[in-house]
Order: sequence, then C-alpha cells, then structure tokens
Amino acid sequence: MAYETIIVDVEDHIAKVTLNRPDALNALNDQLLSELSDAMAGCQTNDKVRCIVIIGSEKAFAAGADIAMMKDKSFTEVFTEDLFGPETDAIVRVRKPVIAAVSGYALGGGCELAMMCDFIIASDTAKFGQPEINLGVMAGIGGTQRLTRAVGKAKAMDMNLTGRFMDAEEAERSGLVSRVVPAKKLMDEAMGAAEKIAEKSMISVMAVKEAVNRSFEMPLREGLLFERRVFHSLFATEDQKEGMAAFLEKREAQFRDR
Ligand code: HXC
Repeated sequence: MAYETIIVDVEDHIAKVTLNRPDALNALNDQLLSELSDAMAGCQTNDKVRCIVIIGSEKAFAAGADIAMMKDKSFTEVFTEDLFGPETDAIVRVRKPVIAAVSGYALGGGCELAMMCDFIIASDTAKFGQPEINLGVMAGIGGTQRLTRAVGKAKAMDMNLTGRFMDAEEAERSGLVSRVVPAKKLMDEAMGAAEKIAEKSMISVMAVKEAVNRSFEMPLREGLLFERRVFHSLFATEDQKEGMAAFLEKREAQFRDR
C-alpha cells in the first residue's frame, strides 16, 4: 500500500513511521489512521522490523483528530461507523514495541495516539493536552482512561476538564513520558532506544510488552501470576540458555529469537 499521510522507513531493524500532514499539524483523519493501522500490521509481519518509532514534525506530533473531518458528523454516523475504533484497535494490536517520539503538540487524539504507544520519549518542546472540552466534546480514544492510569486522577481531571496543556517537564514528572531530551536530540534518543530493544530476543521483548499491558487489565494477583508463568515459559527458549550462558562466559549474547 502506498501511503500519502505517513512515511515508513525500515532500516537496521527499526521502522520509523513519520506522521506527514504538515499543513494540518498531523491532525488524524480517516486516511492517516487507516494508513497507520495498515503500516503497523505490516511491521508486525515484516521479520526485518524489531521495533517501531512513531514521530511527527518538530512543531507537532499530532494536534488531534481532524476537526474539519468531524465537524458535520452526526451521532448516528460516528456511532455506526465506530469512529476511530477499528483503526486504534489495530494500532494497539501490534505485538512489537512502539515508541512515540514527541516534539511540539500532542493534543487530543495526538496525545492519545502517543499513549497507545509503549512509551513516550519527549523533546523539551513537547506539549500534551486533551483540549476536546473546548470543542464541546471529550476525549474518545484514551484521554480519560490511559491518561488517568499514567498521571493519576487529579491531573487527568485537570487536563480533561480545563483543556490545559502539560509541558515536557511536567509530563516527565507525572509519569506520562519516560525521558525528555533537547529537541535536536529527539530522533537520536528514540532511535537509540529502539536499537537497544532490537538487540534483545524478540520473544522476551514481546513477552514484556504483553505482561506490562496486562497490568492495566488485571488485578495484581492475577497479573503477578501471568507474569510468573510467562517468565517460566521463557525457559523453553534457546535465547534463555544463550543469554544466561553469555553472562557467565562474560561475552555478548547472540539472540536468535527462538
Ligand atoms: C484540523 C487542524 C487541527 C486539528 C491544527 N489544524 N489542528 N486541523 N484538526 N486538530 C490546522 C489549523 O486549522 C491550521 O490550518 C494549521 O493546522 C495550523 O494550525 P494553527 O492553529 O494555525 O497553528 P497555531 O496557531 O500554531 O496553533 C497550534 C495549535 C492549534 C495550538 C495546536 O492548531 C490548535 O489548538 N489545534 C487544535 C487542537 C485540538 O483542539 N485538538 C483536539 C482535536 S479533537 P490552516 O488551514 O488554517 O493553516 C480530538 C478528538 C479526539 O482530537 C477523540 C477521538 C475520538
């Protein structure tokens, strides 16, 4: 599939997916979301891809869902077509790790897209927000759910009710992002993190992603049991034998994803 609203580059086991609607600050429309979900499915089946990085422009990761596209839609239409449901399901379904590299605005659906990724690395220019309240609506793809789990009720309520933006420093302090770097270093930092992940055994990597995500769905006792059983199951892999042998032999592990 040839894409018009995103650019996908696969190099050295990393898929860099650039959101590319600069005139609309990467606002998420049907086409962008469907191209993004197609690209994510492609990354899942492409053996060359071991980690995915989603990035926007310097000014905006994404300034939200496309307001022009939504303006005249009726309740019947958005409900019947399940606006943004199937595409966002496809984005979170990918089992390989996804890093959001956020510079500038990550607002509304843009903030929610970043939160669908496994972790967020932000530039010091990043601004996160759920300003949908100013449009007479509310967040619809995670802004009241993932944000609350990430930063807690007080800040999630504050952001969703007032529509205020959170800068990178506050986002890091609140646990929304894992690292903040100077704007010029954002790409290097995100690619560096992706390269580190790409060196690991893909089996452990996918198991970690699954287990951490389960923590959002399960009570602690069940989550701990799930984690322990997956940990046990990794002893069936050659990579576990290789990883532990390499440590004891004081050499680099050569993982083979089996
Ligand atoms: C459509 C958008 C857009 C959006 C920006 N643009 N955000 N178009 N949908 N979400 C367009 C502008 O119309 C403008 O087009 C161009 O991008 C540049 O934006 P400006 O506003 O001129 O830039 P600036 O003055 O620098 O302000 C930047 C901004 C502002 C603060 C980010 O653009 C803004 O507030 N955007 C909307 C943010 C928002 O409310 N997001 C939530 C959307 S609702 P022209 O053609 O004039 O140059 C949402 C729902 C999610 O996300 C729920 C999903 C179910």
